[in-house]
Amino acid sequence: MYGSTGYSNGYHQNLQQSSGEKRGVTRGRRGSRRSRDPHGFRVSDHQNNSSNDNDQQEPKSPPPCTDFDMAYFHSYAHVGIHEEMIKDRVRTDTYRAAIMQHQSLIEGKVVVDVGCGTGILSIFCAQAGAKRVYAVDASDIAIQANEVVKANNLAEKVIVLHGRVEDVEIDEEVDVIISEWMGYMLLYESMLGSVITARDRWLKRGGLILPSTATLYMAPITHPDRYNDSIEFWRNVYGIDMSAMMQLAKQCAFEEPCVETISGENVLTWPHVVKHVDCYTIQLHELESVSTRYKFQSMMRAPLHGFGFWFDVEFTGPANSPPNNHTQSSVIGLLNNNPVDGSQRKKRTNPNDALVLSTAPEDPPTHWQQTLIYFYDPLEVEQDQVIEGSLVLSQSKENRRFMNIHLEYSFTTDYMADGSTYMPVAYQQQAI
Ligand SMILES: C[S@@+](CC[C@H](N)C(=O)[O-])C[C@H]1O[C@@H](n2cnc3c(N)ncnc32)[C@H](O)[C@@H]1O
Repeated sequence: MYGSTGYSNGYHQNLQQSSGEKRGVTRGRRGSRRSRDPHGFRVSDHQNNSSNDNDQQEPKSPPPCTDFDMAYFHSYAHVGIHEEMIKDRVRTDTYRAAIMQHQSLIEGKVVVDVGCGTGILSIFCAQAGAKRVYAVDASDIAIQANEVVKANNLAEKVIVLHGRVEDVEIDEEVDVIISEWMGYMLLYESMLGSVITARDRWLKRGGLILPSTATLYMAPITHPDRYNDSIEFWRNVYGIDMSAMMQLAKQCAFEEPCVETISGENVLTWPHVVKHVDCYTIQLHELESVSTRYKFQSMMRAPLHGFGFWFDVEFTGPANSPPNNHTQSSVIGLLNNNPVDGSQRKKRTNPNDALVLSTAPEDPPTHWQQTLIYFYDPLEVEQDQVIEGSLVLSQSKENRRFMNIHLEYSFTTDYMADGSTYMPVAYQQQAI
């Protein structure tokens, strides 16, 4: 739907020997959020280094609505994508529970729903007693949202605005912003920018944003079943040696990030926090490029098939304004499992804690599943072996809804007899 502008979905694996130690792999993906719309991850043709450009100044005018944006909004006019989201009970029930948990901050207040879709979250807010809800969506799904609102006799409370959050006018400040903006790997789709825009345009000082924080995680994964199903399968097909197919199978299966469900058993270490977002304070320019260095220590001997990514979001009030007396926004149960850089994972262990919507492998599955970046060939890791490297996620300059992924990794392959010295071999997966 986006045409071919700036995007290659043909496979291209470049094996580059660099100083005898590095292997470079370029991958691209044209995928979709919710598996059926056309905006995808992609690997950039350059490593993003734009984070310095706008560090000092926020752009004053909203980004123009490009053809890519039009196609993006058009994809949300299809019923299937909304059906999939609404049927994701983990997602929808958590949002409803979060709204009810913050009822005292919503009752009698003005709400804006950034990207209302069918209007479901707006209606939850109206049911929680909101005085007025501005339900904004640039997609034609807003037409249906308006009908849904009328059919539920809420037209006096829920005002559907068919347009971009960046462009519509709301002539009052709002007390609450609600939005379901998260894409695959959290940042894909770049919808968080629209939440920031809404916050900066309309939110009262001390207002509530739901969800309030978001965290993206990564961890090395082992997934022999997947590798066997897609690759090893070709070794013996009805008694025929089809291993000549294997290289093509690797390219076709693994050239792009895959949206799949894995379990906690596939994860080799505790995860690393790639990015923590505080929706109350994050600025637009921070989303242009996210980078991190990671260091994992494998908890077992296993074939390393790649890296898995997932996120969670948390529903809490602003720091200086506790949401209500039923809700505590304390974070407990921090599991600090990466001794090197303090990667952390939050667990809700008490019903009074902030609600968390998690897409982690060990939690109930959601339509986001997990995002997996596979190597073409597994790498054997020993227990306690260190896997380290860096990751840069950057918005494509051509289409900010695309995400460029630059992943580098290295690890030691040989322990010396006394355990003290390594024979390091570095691998690099690199966007070019
Ligand atoms: C993930 S869906 C969520 C729909 C609905 N809130 C729900 O929870 O079922 C995101 C919606 O936001 C809309 N959207 C994304 N960016 C927007 C923007 N800048 N202005 C208005 N609508 C936007 C999309 O068209 C889409 O319908």
